[in-house]
Amino acid sequence: MAFNSEIYNDLEVRTDLEGFHLEAEGHDDPWLKRPATDCCAALLMTGRRLQCWPLFRGAERRGNRNDGEGRCAEARIRLWRGLIEGRFLRHQIYFSTGAVIIQHILLTGGAGYIGSHTCVALVHAGYTPVIVDNFSNSHPAVLPRLRQITGQAIACEQGDVADAAFMTDVLRRYRVQAVMHFAGYKAVGESVAQPLKYYRNNLASMLGLLEAMTAAGCRTLVFSSSATVYGDPHAVPMTEDFPRSHTNPYGHTKLMIEDMLASLCRADPAWAVAVLRYFNPVGAHPGGLIGDDPSGIPNNLMPYISQVAVGKRPQLQVFGNDYPTVDGTGVRDYIHVLDLAEGHVAALNALLEHGQHLTVNLGTGQGHSVLQVVRAFEQASGREVPCQIMPRRAGDVAQCYADPSLARQLLGWQARRSLAEMCGDAWRWQSQNPDGYRFGAPAAVVPSRR
Ligand SMILES: NC(=O)c1ccc[n+]([C@@H]2O[C@H](COP(=O)([O-])OP(=O)(O)OC[C@H]3O[C@@H](n4cnc5c(N)ncnc54)[C@H](O)[C@@H]3O)[C@@H](O)[C@H]2O)c1
Repeated sequence: MAFNSEIYNDLEVRTDLEGFHLEAEGHDDPWLKRPATDCCAALLMTGRRLQCWPLFRGAERRGNRNDGEGRCAEARIRLWRGLIEGRFLRHQIYFSTGAVIIQHILLTGGAGYIGSHTCVALVHAGYTPVIVDNFSNSHPAVLPRLRQITGQAIACEQGDVADAAFMTDVLRRYRVQAVMHFAGYKAVGESVAQPLKYYRNNLASMLGLLEAMTAAGCRTLVFSSSATVYGDPHAVPMTEDFPRSHTNPYGHTKLMIEDMLASLCRADPAWAVAVLRYFNPVGAHPGGLIGDDPSGIPNNLMPYISQVAVGKRPQLQVFGNDYPTVDGTGVRDYIHVLDLAEGHVAALNALLEHGQHLTVNLGTGQGHSVLQVVRAFEQASGREVPCQIMPRRAGDVAQCYADPSLARQLLGWQARRSLAEMCGDAWRWQSQNPDGYRFGAPAAVVPSRR
């Protein structure tokens, strides 16, 4: 008799510190009434530990307890073998009959630049992602491309993360085990011009999500923070205990959310939260199918350089060449977006294993100047990138790079991709998709002019 997952849509999977309990009593389905030897073992893997036990209390009461336990032991061996061989898909609940209930990792803003790359990294790590996005700064065309890269359809719900009722429903329907919260607006300049837009979206979406997670009983969260919370740092490299401040409304929202999460963790230790302070994510998936697709004039260096190289913009304006740096231009910590994505997987693993509140820098620990990045990009693309030197811009600092040692210590993660790879992958994305996701299938690679 086949397991019909449709019938079990309302099965409750509850988690607590001990693991999972699958509640199936009260169901009047022949599958449930089979003898325990056939159907009562469940394999349950939490990040904290592996558990399996006879599933149906009804079956136990009918005297099948021993059979059920025997099944569990057998199943446990199968699971461990799968883990050792690296084949096992994590966080799915396996029945001895072969049926599966899947728990998802929810990515808010998962259609965006960092979320889409993290989606790929999660699938490679054996997780099953589900995306919620309102496509305010992304395009649904990313979804078929994610399918092409991962070989599986990625579930996506369109909606606003600030809508707590909608989010509660999504969290329950997909049996969400943990959330990665990418959704938010991110353009510093725009936040200065339109502060309310930023306070409204970034704070309301965080609040809506936290309320929904509370209602749905999901308390594991990875949050996209930013090195911008260090404001104007007094030294480099920057460690997580540096004083925090803000220089614009965008940075202020990140700082407020960090504080909000700290209060929540203090009030309820069941919350497990990783605050990840990103430095400068660049690059793209090496296949050239997904990448950074800014709307309008890019705010960040790498997409700007890419657009100059592909001929969409005449030149790059470099603000300041008299800083006390290697060549006078500003130095930043550029990190390949796939390294960043893998940092998220490492943070998720740590949360599911240890359940804690941690804050870490995700950077390489190495600074590169604007002109170094331009030269590396020219090398990777074979295109010239004309530069115009401009006066310094108010609010810019000379150097900003991370001390990434805490992430290495707590997450066992470190960035491994070079600046050359960042530029090569960014160029492949840009040259194959000169207009981003907006015009369907990627074009052929643009030939080099040098
Ligand atoms: N890219 C960077 O340089 C950088 C650096 C530091 C921190 N961050 C943070 O990382 C996160 C992701 O950044 P990104 O570069 O991928 O940005 P992105 O704009 O590409 O992705 C954000 C996604 O969130 C969606 N979104 C925004 N508000 C939403 C809402 N209320 N409901 C549902 N969806 C919503 C957008 O449509 C978009 O798909 C952001 O929170 C950003 O502040 C980014």
